[in-house]
Amino acid sequence: MERTFLMVKPDGVRRQLVGRLVQRFEERGFQLTAAKLVVFGREQAERHYAEHREKPFFGELVDFITSGPCFAMIWEGDNVVQLTRNMIGKTDPLDAAPGTIRGDYAVHKGFNVIHGSDSVESAEREIANFFRPEEVVAYDCPL
Ligand code: CMP
Repeated sequence: MERTFLMVKPDGVRRQLVGRLVQRFEERGFQLTAAKLVVFGREQAERHYAEHREKPFFGELVDFITSGPCFAMIWEGDNVVQLTRNMIGKTDPLDAAPGTIRGDYAVHKGFNVIHGSDSVESAEREIANFFRPEEVVAYDCPL
């Protein structure tokens, strides 16, 4: 079964959006298999955003993501990577369509509420960076 890594960023946790965001993914028909509230260390955050290391906003991005608790999750389902990306919307809220999470809740590129893996390969790498295998729970969901 395909899985993805989704993470409510510190702005989303501070704004108390966690419940509403979890509900959107449940209602779409995906299954939550791991979740935790955690304040990330700099090294872990730098590993997660390694592809942006050379970008001018890298320091700012790591400062922000380590500034408070994030809500990290693993979700499973058919085509879950692409479908949750569609639900999250474009990185820049100026381009994010209304009805998407960023289109509904975000106004700034740097504070865009939630992260979602951009490919199956990224998802597995990101999951390995944030979760131990024993934190993932397998169970039947009667859909
Ligand atoms: P995310 O999907 O988590 O992946 C990389 C993040 O970099 C992205 O969301 C944005 O939050 C952040 N980002 C992209 N462009 C900028 C920017 N110009 N300034 C600050 N942060 C940015």
